[in-house]
Amino acid sequence: MKQLNQKKFLWGTATASHQVESGNFYNDWWLWEKEGKIKTGDSAHPSCEHNLRYKEDFYLIKFLNNNSYRFSIEWSKIEKEEGVFDENEIEHYLNMLKEMKIRDIEPILTLHHFTIPQWLYHKGGFENPEFPEYFSKFVSKVVPYYKELANYWITINEPVIVALMGYIFGDWPPGIKNRKRAFSVLKNLAFAHAQAYDIIKEKKKDSLVSIAHNLMIFKPATWNPLDYMVCHLLDSWFNMAFLKTIIEGRIYSPIGKKEFHPELKNKLDYIGVNYYTRSFFKFGIRGFAEYKRKNVPRSDFGFEIYPEGLYEVLMRLKPFGLPVMITENGMADKKDLYRPDFLKTSLKSVSRAIKEGVDILGYMHWSLMDNFEWVEGYSKKFGLLETDFKTQERKPRGSAYLYQKASLINPNTDSFDF
Ligand code: FCB
Repeated sequence: MKQLNQKKFLWGTATASHQVESGNFYNDWWLWEKEGKIKTGDSAHPSCEHNLRYKEDFYLIKFLNNNSYRFSIEWSKIEKEEGVFDENEIEHYLNMLKEMKIRDIEPILTLHHFTIPQWLYHKGGFENPEFPEYFSKFVSKVVPYYKELANYWITINEPVIVALMGYIFGDWPPGIKNRKRAFSVLKNLAFAHAQAYDIIKEKKKDSLVSIAHNLMIFKPATWNPLDYMVCHLLDSWFNMAFLKTIIEGRIYSPIGKKEFHPELKNKLDYIGVNYYTRSFFKFGIRGFAEYKRKNVPRSDFGFEIYPEGLYEVLMRLKPFGLPVMITENGMADKKDLYRPDFLKTSLKSVSRAIKEGVDILGYMHWSLMDNFEWVEGYSKKFGLLETDFKTQERKPRGSAYLYQKASLINPNTDSFDF
């Protein structure tokens, strides 16, 4: 077993620009909203006005005893028109980074969190074969500004979810239901990530670069071996294929043909993990389907509450031998009924994985405050802080106090004693 180390553990929360900022009028999600695709009819503008209120929000981050914060910069604000970069917008995020530095908050900077500029959307978005180049131009432009202040980078948030929601389920822009196209998007995202990785490393050698990868636990609904087979396949497609592709440099099924691309190899310095839930699956005449178990506790989103699963995914990643950061973990729970226990068990899962030899850099709770939850609008409350969207007041939920206590612990050396 690995020696427990003394190094600083990063405690933080995570947000994404489109979900917390006002004025996001230039991306594909704004078009989606204008098409009436947000289930609640809510608007992402002005959301939490985090772009105007970030100093107060940093105060709240300090109130939580956090020493880190994961946030994203909005490509569509910085490059509203193709090739034209808005220096004021670049400066805005630079100011945020400076304010974090003053407050001793380690930034984890996400370059892409679901949204793309409208000009790129009209050119085919993620499917455009030039997508990696468009993204690279943006990354090359912004990294020099931020590199002195940012050590941890996330190139792309949840590439698999981008492909799944936008190109298989069709619930997110661009609303396509076509597996083949989804896989070509994934391939593009793998190259986009790899190129961005190289750019960041070239501009700052000791940066730590990753993606934020959603991992889910798939469990067979019955003892039928076919259910096991389905879960095994889902695990390899959803959890493993993208990761292995950008670690081994070999395209894994279903992303594409099994070709080796040296330029995709070793493109992760650590693994960013977003973990939320587990699902049960069953094989049937029409292929496989999710099996919704009855009488199990669920979040307001309908996800099974299974915080023990964080330990399972962390152990699942151990064989890669890379450090891991929990870049998102949380639950929608308006009344904060289940979140305290969820949080406790999640943190115990982290502690257990550390004891069993997983090198964990930090834990980012999703989210700092209630915000715009994509097609669900404001109906899903993920915040440690409750947001009053009329007054912009943020009010700590009970879980915030728990997290405040937890954030004083170094799980590398101490155990949680709640
Ligand atoms: C993740 C997304 C994040 C947020 C949470 C609830 O999949 O990365 O933006 O919506 O789910």
